[in-house]
Amino acid sequence: MTTKKFYITTPLYYLNSEPHIGHAYTTLAADVLARYKKTKNEPVYFLTGTDEHGANIEKAALNHNVTPQQWTDDMAAKFKALWQVLGIEYDDFIRTTEPRHERVVQAIFEKLLAKGDIYKGSYSGKYCLSCESYLDESELVDGKCPIHKKEPQIIEEETYFFKLSAYQDKLLKYYEENPTFISPKHRAQEIINFVKGGLKDLSVSRTKVKWGISVPSDPNHTIYVWFDALINYISAAGYLADENKFKELWPADIHFLGKEILRFHAVIWPAVLMALDLPLPKQDFAHGWWTIEGEKMSKSLGNFIDPRDITAKYGVDAFRYFIFREVPFGQDGDFSMEAFKKRFNADLANDLGNLLSRTLNMAAKNVGEIPQTYTNANSALLKKAEETDKLYDQNMNALAFDKALDAIWALAGYMNKYIDETKPWMLAKTDPEKTKEILLELVFALRYFASWLAPFMPTSAAEISRRLQSGKIEKYGPLFPRID
Ligand code: MSP
Repeated sequence: MTTKKFYITTPLYYLNSEPHIGHAYTTLAADVLARYKKTKNEPVYFLTGTDEHGANIEKAALNHNVTPQQWTDDMAAKFKALWQVLGIEYDDFIRTTEPRHERVVQAIFEKLLAKGDIYKGSYSGKYCLSCESYLDESELVDGKCPIHKKEPQIIEEETYFFKLSAYQDKLLKYYEENPTFISPKHRAQEIINFVKGGLKDLSVSRTKVKWGISVPSDPNHTIYVWFDALINYISAAGYLADENKFKELWPADIHFLGKEILRFHAVIWPAVLMALDLPLPKQDFAHGWWTIEGEKMSKSLGNFIDPRDITAKYGVDAFRYFIFREVPFGQDGDFSMEAFKKRFNADLANDLGNLLSRTLNMAAKNVGEIPQTYTNANSALLKKAEETDKLYDQNMNALAFDKALDAIWALAGYMNKYIDETKPWMLAKTDPEKTKEILLELVFALRYFASWLAPFMPTSAAEISRRLQSGKIEKYGPLFPRID
């Protein structure tokens, strides 16, 4: 018997530029969910990787005087190194240039060709090189790609088509029967309208791009980079290679992605899976975009946030915390140093850090040994902690990360107030028993924080947990020293 694992994926990142906060965001979201599932002892499998073919990669390599293979080796290593810095615990990292992937892409292409879902024709249209996608006249804004603000090139070529048009009704039916497939909800209508508007067959091969997976039966053609890349979600899961693994993983429980690539994941990808008679992923979750200090990230502004700089200075956990607390997951948001520092000082140094050090310092003085367990049916605080735990779980399961964090910080606020009102440091002089009781309530309520924070701030959560262990409590320095 194979047990199905909760299968989480990120997009495969293009290797034409250095990793930045946008890439980190999608990957961290997947990591937070994977770690959360692990705290609940659910078996999870977390896949990420890199998208290595196509004209843009070829061009980037050429510009740097290296071969595409050298270029992708170097860049993939940079992504891996960043994920290590950020504490990403993935189970597999797939590169689309690996034979285990290329084999499956070729087999699928030939399979669909034999079945008639792929056929040969010719195409003429406007192509945005940065999107790696043909754009419809109706999608252009002032004749330019709405995302990259560049004029598309007119391209005419012999090409293979995937019969996307044949899947229009089936897709609409799937959306209707699975209302959470396209998440968050506010993004679904746009996709539904697009599909209702009529789907055209999709060009899935190129004769001009050399750096790609060749069509086995017609090697003049390489396979379109999106068709190639999407297949990673099943090639990494063992499709056509490892039946048991595939059963354990497929269908994916959640594909995390940014809003600009939702169409590929919610329209093309399910249609390909339908053509292969495979079950469809349960959910595509599209998050929003970060701007930096109010501006779009761009090469000309050079305002990319490199997560390595900020984490080297302020710590990985503070960064992980900030990006999920600051902006509701699914919405666009702005990253500014001012907002980052404000949250660091207010939420981490003050609310959480002070709560922890006040409690521990008073406990060290007044409690003696901390027991293994502590129950107190009359404690309003412990009751509140249990309620918070439920609220936290609800929000984590709904991927409302900001609300899960809000709930925790509301309890921290309540606890700080409880300390201010009961003044244990004064009470200790007149009523040591009551003082001890209050401090035990606080210590045991704080233990919840260690598990709640574990998915977001793994290192700090482990440290909190260590400090709160039973036995003799010590005095400690601040976990998050204030920044100016
Ligand atoms: N290679 C494709 C995906 C293929 S999946 C089979 C691709 N790669 S990408 O390198 O452009 O990165 C995609 C991810 O980075 C998306 O999830 C995208 O939303 C995220 N971000 C890139 N810039 C971003 C922001 N400014 N803000 C938030 N995330 C953004 O697309």
